[in-house]
Amino acid sequence: MAKLYFHIFFLILSNSLIEDVYSTATFTFVNKCKFTVWPGILSNAGISPLSTTGFALNTGESRIINAPTAWGGRFWGRTHCSEDSTGKFSCATGDCGSGKLECAGGGAVTPVTLAEFTLDGDAGKDFYDLSLVDGFNLPMLVAPQGGSGVNCSRAECVADLNGECAPELRVTSAGGERVACRSACDAFRSEEYCCSGAYGKPAACKPSKYAETFKRACPQAYSYAYDDLTSTFTCIGADYIITFCPSPNTSRKSTSGSGGGQNPVSVAGGSNTPFDGNMVYEGALDVSSAASTCAHVVGGGVAVVAAMWRLSQLY
Ligand SMILES: *[C@@H]1O[C@H](CO)[C@@H](O)[C@H](O)[C@H]1NC(C)=O
Ligand SMILES: *[C@@H]1O[C@H](CO)[C@@H](O)[C@H](O)[C@H]1NC(C)=O
Repeated sequence: MAKLYFHIFFLILSNSLIEDVYSTATFTFVNKCKFTVWPGILSNAGISPLSTTGFALNTGESRIINAPTAWGGRFWGRTHCSEDSTGKFSCATGDCGSGKLECAGGGAVTPVTLAEFTLDGDAGKDFYDLSLVDGFNLPMLVAPQGGSGVNCSRAECVADLNGECAPELRVTSAGGERVACRSACDAFRSEEYCCSGAYGKPAACKPSKYAETFKRACPQAYSYAYDDLTSTFTCIGADYIITFCPSPNTSRKSTSGSGGGQNPVSVAGGSNTPFDGNMVYEGALDVSSAASTCAHVVGGGVAVVAAMWRLSQLY
């Protein structure tokens, strides 16, 4: 009898932890906005989707998602989302067109702040960046945990570009709130702004005054297509915390007052939105790398024991 319990115990443990063993990185999404954010996830072409492609993240919540070896794709935050009377889910910014909470292969409608990743690329490095090439909707921070490398550092765009947005680039909600800021490429579609055609080379495509405004506010984010030198980060062996609305840095002049994206938003679908609470760690805002590294080690150890046990069942 004791043996049976032992077997059941390991069966449960191995099934719940085995996912960790095959992941090279964990992404921890944290929402510090004063409103709900619905992260969207799109894998690159030919790369399998992660365990979720879209979910709700309430204020103060965090959620951990594992990524397998060599995963590549992008993350963004959807805002002002709700379900209509027919159950169709849509968002004022970052909408992925699926009509559902999960994006299921849909990319974000511009303008949107993007966090882009290619894990285990050249020389085993993870490549990542924050991009405003498709515009801005939310301040974001990518903070590597426990990795190594000279460019293994925080990429952040803390400024509220919705408040600072030029009138010709502004996107406002039905209620008049500024919810996003378009990039010049997105707004004007010219080769010059999009670095295409005759401007399709780094030497030919210079940042526009719009791109320069983005760059001043968010020096570590891509402001236009060839902004690589100051915007591409690399780590080896890191996990990543992705924070929406990271705390404003007090050393930075805050854009005062109204019209910013920081205002609380009443969201119609807030309570009846389909919500997978399975992996949400409420209030666990300070997720240390030690904890996730530990989970990897424990998960790996258990999986080895479980594999041995499974093998033993063959004989
Ligand atoms: C990467 O490191 C190099 C050398 O320290 C530095 O010149 C460069 O600006 C760094 N890149 C980023 C995006 O910080
Ligand atoms: C705020 O900015 C200062 C100076 O740029 C930097 O040293 C500090 O780490 C920043 N703090 C946060 C929380 O980003």
